[in-house]
Amino acid sequence: MEFASEFLLLFVGVSSLLFYFAWVVPKKISRPPGPPNWPIVGSLFYLSKLPHRSLEELAKKYGPIMYLRLGSLDHIVVSNAEMAMEVLKVHDADFASRPPIIAGKYASFDWSNIGLASYGDHFRLLRKICATQLFTQARLNSFGPGRQEEMAYMVENIAKHSHGGKLVEIRPIFHQLTSNIICHMLFGTRREKSNDLLGNDFDNFFQSNTKMLKIMNKLNISDLIPILKWFDLQGIERSMKHESNQIKKFLSKILKEYRKGNKVHANSTSTDFVEILLSLDEKLDDKSIMGVLTDIIAAGTETSSNTLEWALSELVHHPEIMKKAHEELDRVVGKNRAVVESDLPNLPYLQAIVKETLRLHPAVPMAIPHYNLKDSQISNYKIPAKTNVLVNTWAISRDPKAWKNPLDFNPDRFYNSNISVGGSNYNLLPFGSGRRRCPGLDQAQIVVECGLATILQAFDWFPRPGVKPEDMNMMEATGLTCPIAEALVCGPTFRLYGEK
Ligand code: HEM
Repeated sequence: MEFASEFLLLFVGVSSLLFYFAWVVPKKISRPPGPPNWPIVGSLFYLSKLPHRSLEELAKKYGPIMYLRLGSLDHIVVSNAEMAMEVLKVHDADFASRPPIIAGKYASFDWSNIGLASYGDHFRLLRKICATQLFTQARLNSFGPGRQEEMAYMVENIAKHSHGGKLVEIRPIFHQLTSNIICHMLFGTRREKSNDLLGNDFDNFFQSNTKMLKIMNKLNISDLIPILKWFDLQGIERSMKHESNQIKKFLSKILKEYRKGNKVHANSTSTDFVEILLSLDEKLDDKSIMGVLTDIIAAGTETSSNTLEWALSELVHHPEIMKKAHEELDRVVGKNRAVVESDLPNLPYLQAIVKETLRLHPAVPMAIPHYNLKDSQISNYKIPAKTNVLVNTWAISRDPKAWKNPLDFNPDRFYNSNISVGGSNYNLLPFGSGRRRCPGLDQAQIVVECGLATILQAFDWFPRPGVKPEDMNMMEATGLTCPIAEALVCGPTFRLYGEK
């Protein structure tokens, strides 16, 4: 009997060891390589304030697919075109979800928006509405006059601020341009003209949106170490709840007015997004309408204005490239009329400048995190469900194996070439690719190209006195959309139709 129980013990022990070495250990080994993970914090210490840069450095050591644990959350980071294609094309459907971060619940009105929605029926419905109603070519064209109006306001604004040789800080001017353009789309009018219906509420609404983005920028310890969620140590959940309630209050009022037949601006003639979303056959609940509207403000404003600021900064940094852009504009458009959107196809050098800007300075350097709801695979690695997947598009578009002299700002690499920024070339993914690709891509390209053409045609740009172009600091700041760290302050001189 004694012998039998010893034998049983031995049998169980040996079987467990065999199971461990045959099953558990290989499973662990099949994880992609990555830096050491420490208890509780995981690999957090390896990240600086510019995580895309830290992860690019780590990828040099551990390869184009890495595993990191950040707090208690599993992360995969991909850093070359081949691995990006695995995530965004080969296994696109598997990785098309979003991680359920705490702040996201409030920003998305309980996951009712597009950008943070989990992959499923609701998300697919919203993307279908984007493709068939909101971002069609006809709709884009219908907002053309609003965009053109904003371009003229921007030139007036810069001329006013730079009068008498004063220096201009360009960031707020670009921000005003892009937020007014978004406002035309959503509410049929520019921000400043909206007082007919809502008075100061309109400004407060935009401020709440900006605050929410700022809060979401913060690394929330409770996301990484869920046990801390109950304490909300950084006050992130509290602040998000507050701003989300402000926005909800404002948008409820708007929806009520529209349902009564009133618009934000009484004389607006274009069909705006609020009207479209209220009139759909597939009825959306109010939370989803609010989610889509705030999504577009969050995703469409800073991304475009930061890209414009990067483009202009690169041109001030490289006066010889600005000179070529001026020559093209003078040749194609001249100086006697303002450049318009229909000129853009005839300005290939300007278009190349925008592509090169998007390559070196993608506005969302690691896209928005992707997430798999079930076990999946990337290359030969098994990726367990609920893993965050980061596509380091910033590192990919600087990969020396894909780009010659990748750190040089050289628009010639795109001049008269058909390399696309739209997601078919996995070495260049400023708008992502696949099911989560940016739906505002066409709108963004028009605004950035026309915005840049407008300010170049109207002005000559110089760095602030005492700074040589070659000495400008071209580092980026931390943030969801990485702006240039030292905001561009310039001395423009008017060059269109004589002195302004
Ligand atoms: C230069 C300007 C812009 C850049 C670089 C940009 C880039 C991106 C990127 C990288 C993503 C995430 C892709 C992914 O998760 O793989 C995204 C998502 C998104 N973008 Fe843009 N974007 C820009 C402008 C816009 C504009 C103007 C709009 C709307 C008018 C917009 C609306 C959205 C929305 C709604 C999403 C979420 C899509 C989803 O999760 O399915 N974006 N954008």
